[in-house]
Amino acid sequence: MVEENMRRKLIVGNWKMHGSTDQISQLLEEIESGSEQLLEDIEICVCPTYLHLGLAFDLLASKSGAGRGQIKLGAQNVHVEPAGAFTGEVSAQMLAEYGVSYVIVGHSERRQFFAESDQFIAEKFRAAQACRLTPILCVGESLDQRQDNETERVVLNQLDAVIAAAGIAAMKEAVIAYEPVWAIGTGETATPAQAQQVHRTLREHLDRLDSVIAKAIRIIYGGSVNAANAKELFSQPDVDGGLVGGASLEAEEFISICKSTD
Ligand code: PGA
Repeated sequence: MVEENMRRKLIVGNWKMHGSTDQISQLLEEIESGSEQLLEDIEICVCPTYLHLGLAFDLLASKSGAGRGQIKLGAQNVHVEPAGAFTGEVSAQMLAEYGVSYVIVGHSERRQFFAESDQFIAEKFRAAQACRLTPILCVGESLDQRQDNETERVVLNQLDAVIAAAGIAAMKEAVIAYEPVWAIGTGETATPAQAQQVHRTLREHLDRLDSVIAKAIRIIYGGSVNAANAKELFSQPDVDGGLVGGASLEAEEFISICKSTD
């Protein structure tokens, strides 16, 4: 059995394809000033579009005082190759230059709208790690799959595809995000019990391969997280934070979600 552990909570704002330069600056300024105290206890990461990473990087650099915790930057995507003729793509090396710490891989919107396979996602995972970026690997079932009692099989297959390609040791420097597809952007959240059950399943699966990694890895929940439901979700023993879409675009709401971690 995997014991509970002191894992540092992680809240990630996935801004998706939203925001003008003015909006991004304002949003980040507000999150920055509202989260100062929180950064001693939790980790906060925001994921703007590729285009706004430089802006966010400069803004965060201008704010960081000595010894102060920093909001981390994440990218929403990455290409598998380090460089080359791949029109429209961005490599992990390029992201690292912009102070990026995390990269979301395997988000259901990329699996669904851009036909990304488990294997391609595993390659992205490895490409990110090769440049010392921490992948946030998203797994999750569709509504049909849940109704057919396929949840466990689906999420473990998605996880195993990455472990097969990268090795279990690679999970040491990774985050898993459980995001049921039916809960993303729908306003319908998994119940805390449903989230806990899947998180525990994922952790127990890892425990069979490496008990140290299983205890240390953060498994965050995503899918219609908001200020009203965050506290109960984050209080589940295997839920180590959240991947927040829509509600991360409102500074006050996002900060309130970040505060729901204690
Ligand atoms: P949502 O998105 O919070 O808007 O449901 C979550 C995500 O897609 O990561």
